[in-house]
Amino acid sequence: MSKSVKTTYFCQSCGAESAKWMGKCPSCGAWNSMVEEVIQKSDTRDRPHLIQGKSKVSNKPKRLADINVSEEERILSPDSELNRVLGGGIVPGSVVLIGGEPGIGKSTLMLQLATKLEEKTILYVSGEESEKQIRMRAERIQGNKNQCYILSEVNTQNIFKQIEPLEPDVIIIDSIQTLFSAHIESAAGSISQIRQCTSELVKYAKEVHVPVFIIGHITKEGTIAGPKVLEHMVDTVLQFEGDRHHSYRVLRALKNRFGSVSELGIYEMSMSGLREVINPSEMLLSDWENPLSGVCIGAAMEGNRTLLIEIQSLVSNATYGTPQRSTTGFDPKRLNMLLAVIEKIGGFPLATYDIFLNITGGIKVQDPALDLAVCMSILSSFRNFVIPHDSCFIAEVGLGGELRQVGQVQQRVVEAQKMGMKTAYIAKSAQKNIPNPPSELIIRPFATWNDILSEWV
Ligand code: TYD
Ligand code: MG
Repeated sequence: MSKSVKTTYFCQSCGAESAKWMGKCPSCGAWNSMVEEVIQKSDTRDRPHLIQGKSKVSNKPKRLADINVSEEERILSPDSELNRVLGGGIVPGSVVLIGGEPGIGKSTLMLQLATKLEEKTILYVSGEESEKQIRMRAERIQGNKNQCYILSEVNTQNIFKQIEPLEPDVIIIDSIQTLFSAHIESAAGSISQIRQCTSELVKYAKEVHVPVFIIGHITKEGTIAGPKVLEHMVDTVLQFEGDRHHSYRVLRALKNRFGSVSELGIYEMSMSGLREVINPSEMLLSDWENPLSGVCIGAAMEGNRTLLIEIQSLVSNATYGTPQRSTTGFDPKRLNMLLAVIEKIGGFPLATYDIFLNITGGIKVQDPALDLAVCMSILSSFRNFVIPHDSCFIAEVGLGGELRQVGQVQQRVVEAQKMGMKTAYIAKSAQKNIPNPPSELIIRPFATWNDILSEWV
């Protein structure tokens, strides 16, 4: 076997490759991110099949019309939120990458899938936790399926050796950063290792037609470590996110070759694992007995789902020179823009006040349809009046103070009525997009921010 040793420099931030060291990565512009990695090329790397004779897919050209689509029958998991995000179930032969911050619940989500999937043999490979730790976690989430096999191993060649006799129907890898392939000499977790291990797994999934779930850590910047290159190699990229101090978790598809990326799964982390949340609005709205000033309800779309969201703000006199603007779950730049509109168009002097804005429940939203609710919440705190808890505000606010229509208003007002709202404030231009107004909801259209103000202050 002829072997040649080669070293290359990889950017640890974007994965770009370079023959010599550079201070700044020419591809992503990151400074001091080039790290030398030893790559040992060997002939076995180019072996046509990872497991000889196991390929279930013939590689002759087929006419498009002759390809049988019903072959692609999806495996339905008991977790309906996961099915939804994957576009209707697990596609055999697909490779799914799951990213998320440490401690967010990636291992729990996958172990739950592994222990609750009926009539399938599942191999859960963990390079992070011992078998005992996994067993303890399985007991905690009450997963007691005996067709779930645990393998504590980091070497991909050994993993494939174990896969061969077991022939699992689903493989879960926790996590890709701990894996190590003997075909390459650099350390586990380095860009070239991550890339090599993923490509071996992708090759296996395609050859044997078995779905593979890969857990990946994310970097400080919020991208999956071992970065864009990985995202190109896999079929689906899911992001598991949420606030550590809250129990809600959101599973979002960032890329999906087999379904839409606008789907979203919502979970709650409980004492016994992750629970699917069927009606998220119910959990995001609080039950105030005495309504407070500064609280306002808006309707945001996350994927294809409508969420009624409570926005809370506090406007108070700034004690120090520069007033603070602080947000949780909302884009601070958008807040600054809305403050400028409130100040300029509405004439409220907010420049000397500290402003704090929270989206309650610990979720992050980007929908511009919340603009009006944000403005109302700030005003409610500033002028100290209470917005009734059965009013919902749905409109984007333009720079000139005009209220703009947003997408799927019909769906939003239907959800508002379902959640017990009595009045919905919307943009005048959106009225035509509500062909079937809910019978018990009063819809109040307004053209500008000033028109709404005359109603409230
Ligand atoms: P984990 O799945 O280990 O996160 P990751 O793999 O993304 O690093 O989740 C760990 C957190 O979840 C941990 O802080 C404890 C919490 N947790 C619960 O609250 N309830 C449970 O039933 C389980 C299993 C974990
Ligand atoms: Mg983990």
